[in-house]
Parts: sequence; C-alpha cells; structure tokens
Amino acid sequence: MRISKILERAKAGEQLSTQELVDLLSITDKNELQALYDCAYAIKEREVGTVAYFRGIIECSNICIKDCYYCGIRKSNRAVERFEMDEDEIFKEAVWAYKAEYGSCVIQSGERQDEEYISMIERVVKRIREATHGKLGITLSLGEQSEAVYRRWREAGAHRYLLRIETSNPELYAKFHPKDHLFETRKECLAALRRTGYQVGTGVMMGLPGQTMEDLVEDLLFLKRMDVDMVGMGPYIPHSDTPMGQEVRPYTDEQKKHALVLGLKMIAVTRIVLKDINIAAATALQALEYTGREQGLLCGANVIMPNVTETDYRPKYKLYDDKPCTDENSSLCRGCLSKRIKGIGETVGFGEWGDAPHFYKRTAK
Ligand code: 5AD
Ligand code: FES
Repeated sequence: MRISKILERAKAGEQLSTQELVDLLSITDKNELQALYDCAYAIKEREVGTVAYFRGIIECSNICIKDCYYCGIRKSNRAVERFEMDEDEIFKEAVWAYKAEYGSCVIQSGERQDEEYISMIERVVKRIREATHGKLGITLSLGEQSEAVYRRWREAGAHRYLLRIETSNPELYAKFHPKDHLFETRKECLAALRRTGYQVGTGVMMGLPGQTMEDLVEDLLFLKRMDVDMVGMGPYIPHSDTPMGQEVRPYTDEQKKHALVLGLKMIAVTRIVLKDINIAAATALQALEYTGREQGLLCGANVIMPNVTETDYRPKYKLYDDKPCTDENSSLCRGCLSKRIKGIGETVGFGEWGDAPHFYKRTAK
C-alpha cells in the first residue's frame, strides 16, 4: 500500500522524501518490484522515449597508474597482461563504430597522466572528428586529469566525459581507495569537466561492502545536485585478483541475483528522480545475468555501451569477474544486442548522437 502510494506520487511528478527513496530501494516483494520498474519505465517513455542509444566503447589500454582496491586492472595486479592500442588501432575502431551507425564512441582506458599519452589522445580525437565529419560523438573516459588536459581534449573534439564518483560517501571512498586517491580531487575533476564545457556523466557502484540504502539515496541526491546529463552506474562485482575481491569472494548465484536486483532498483529510482537524463545500462549487469542489460532498459536506462574493441584485447580489460562478450567480436555484439533490444519492443537510435533532453533544457536556460 505504502509503496503504491509513493509510486503514484512519483508518477505525478511530486518530489519524494529521503525516507521514501530508501523505501523504494529496499523493496523485496516481487509485485512491488515490478510496480517500481513499471513506474520508472513510464517516466522514461514520457521524458526520453523508448529509443536505446549505442555508444561503442573502445577499451584502448589497461595500463593504469591507480590502485583502486576493487578494480581488476589496478597497478598492483601482476596477473594482468598489459596492453595499449596505438593511435591507428583506436582510430580504426572509431571508424568501425561510425560505419556501424553508432551515434558515438567512448574511449576508455586505465588512468595515465603522461604527456605522451595525453597528446596521443588529443591527436586521435582530432583524427576521428575529421574523418567522421563531426558526426560520430566522441566521449572520453580517461580518469582524473588537470583542467588544462581536459581543455585540450575538448578543443580536439571530445564533447562528453565519463568519470564516476564511485560513491558520494567520503568515508566509503577512503575505504576502497589508497590514501593518495582523494575524493576531493575526484569532485574537483567533475567541476573542471563542467567548466570546460563537456556533457558530464558520473555514477556510482552499488552493493559495495558496508554501503547502506541511505548511502545510495545520498548518491542519488549527489547526482541531482551535480545536475548531470548522463549517469552510468553498475553493481560492484568482485574481481578475484584484487584486495576487495579476496575479502568478498566470488558471488554465489544468490548474491548475483541480489546484486542484479539492487542495480536495477537503483536505475529505476534514478530515472524517477532525475527524469530526463541519459542512463546507461552498465555492462556489469550482464555479468550477473545474461539479459541484465535489457532488464536495465526495462527499468529506466536508455543507453547501452557495446564493446568495439578487437577480440584479442577484450579478455585483458577485465575490471571484474565474468565480464561478458570477451569472446565476441564487434559485429557479433552489434547484431546480438540489436536483436535483444528489438525483443523488448524498443528501437535503436542508429546514427544519432542521442543527447539527453536534460542537456538541451540546461543549456537553453
Ligand atoms: N565491479 C564493478 N565495477 C567496477 N569498476 C571497476 N571495478 C569494478 C568492479 N570490480 C567500475 C568503476 C569504474 C568503471 C570504469 O568501472 O566504477 O569507474
Ligand atoms: Fe556482445 Fe551479445 S552483446 S555478444
């Protein structure tokens, strides 16, 4: 009864209290869960429509100077064979994404702050922009950098940037990162990205050890305060060669199910609260269940990031265990995902940038 009342109010566009948001995230009853997802889907339909946008993700290097305790490609993980694509390889994959009519590409890698890498990215962004006549959107996801570097890449032609805050709780942040990885720096980077004119996307991991529903609601309110255009968030999944993964141990089927549902609930509540933004159905959802990403779309997400990396490199870019599509090639993923999206009655926004309505409203002010 209480849940359906909250959902009624949500649908009518009323602002929900912190306690009500906690209540939504705490749902366990099957019917109530479905009602939550349906409510989020109705809001998605109304605010952004039912077109799913593809962002071809190019995972161009797993070399990383950071040492986050949860991440499989952290600097101290000796078990990882490191790779880095050269400029031509990155360019080739972006052109593939363009020809496949993906609205945009995302260049992602471990974090590096050396000038050689920075200028390589700058050159390749320029080349992609020129070769695709500015039609392929270029998103970067290359971690923390100085404002000057963000500006160089922006001037080269990138227009969106993804940098997760991971958790908006500074104490949790400190627990999952080494001492020299500062929460404040992450926040300053997000502000710098905004100042340099990017569309900024951020997000968190759900299901971190010790994270509460109240923390997740705070995360949501953080995203709202940031007035972001894009959100990418996903469930935390242990990686066995990391300090956190050693403690948490691989998930049992029961834990996988639980992590998936928490991920879906968070997407749904994000759609309810933030309404007209782009929300990505994280690949991590599919690591927990094969149809995880489609379920994400049905709970309010409207963006999917298919991998366009060459198969040889894919297994080496393993942020967490059971990462999907590591044996598939790019065409296979395109076909497979398109079919699955059709299967849930949605269409793919081929050839469109697919900016969030929120971005237009914000910049028209
Ligand atoms: N489980 C889920 N997500 C992870 N990431 C890194 N490691 C993991 C993990 N073990 C996410 C982080 C990072 C993004 C690129 O991948 O949120 O920002
Ligand atoms: Fe990659 Fe289906 S999404 S093969």
